[in-house]
Amino acid sequence: MPSTRAIEVLATAADLFHAAAEEFVRAARTAIGAQGRFTVALSGGSTPKALYSLLATNYAGFAWNRIFLFFGDERHVPPTDPESNYRMVNESLLTKIAIPAENVFRVPAENPDAAAAASEYEAQLRGFFEIKSGEFPRFDLILLGLGPDGHTASLFPDSPALNEESRLVVANWVAKFNAHRITFTFPVLNRAAEVMFLASGADKADMVRQVLEGKNTPPLPSQRVQPSDGKLLWMLDEAAAAKLTR
Ligand code: 6PG
Repeated sequence: MPSTRAIEVLATAADLFHAAAEEFVRAARTAIGAQGRFTVALSGGSTPKALYSLLATNYAGFAWNRIFLFFGDERHVPPTDPESNYRMVNESLLTKIAIPAENVFRVPAENPDAAAAASEYEAQLRGFFEIKSGEFPRFDLILLGLGPDGHTASLFPDSPALNEESRLVVANWVAKFNAHRITFTFPVLNRAAEVMFLASGADKADMVRQVLEGKNTPPLPSQRVQPSDGKLLWMLDEAAAAKLTR
């Protein structure tokens, strides 16, 4: 599949999340039709919460038993912590749909040893995708957000994980948070069949323009997400796209 990049701009945030939910379900139907299952990595932060809530309300009856959910990154906190991406997804989606517990792969971020948590999650990915060392999983869809500094997942500018080429999941020390984050690496992101960035609101407009039109040296982490054999889809609302040259 040749790599493609598409940018979709929706009038409002509500329109954006509806279109993102439809794209999620379209990708799920295609994968389930082709291989009987859909593998997706969810993003954290605040933006996707509305998408997860919409999937729960508008697609509660979907074939969730054929969907396998992973997390592209996680904060180094227990699943009950207000900062936990798992907690956000659990409250906005998982508790409202009939998805088998064994289809949800949570990052074991309660482990005080972040590196051990990352290794354990990597082992879960290798087990699920039945891949050996040196091989990489191919997710059907990876959802990503855009941080104010151009980070995505927990791949922050000037952080050690940016240079990781063989691991699937690492504990990334983020100096500004004085904490580790557990995150997928670029090799995983760039082997996905589809990557969907979701950005909403005027406060994202500068960074959206920088990432999609800017020449940055080094490139911003979000600019390094270039699926080698897949689709890159940026879904934006008008406010987030306001500074793009169109
Ligand atoms: C996280 C995310 C992170 C997020 C961006 C955007 O764990 O925080 O995975 O990469 O997508 O920081 O966050 P907002 O959606 O809250 O702006």
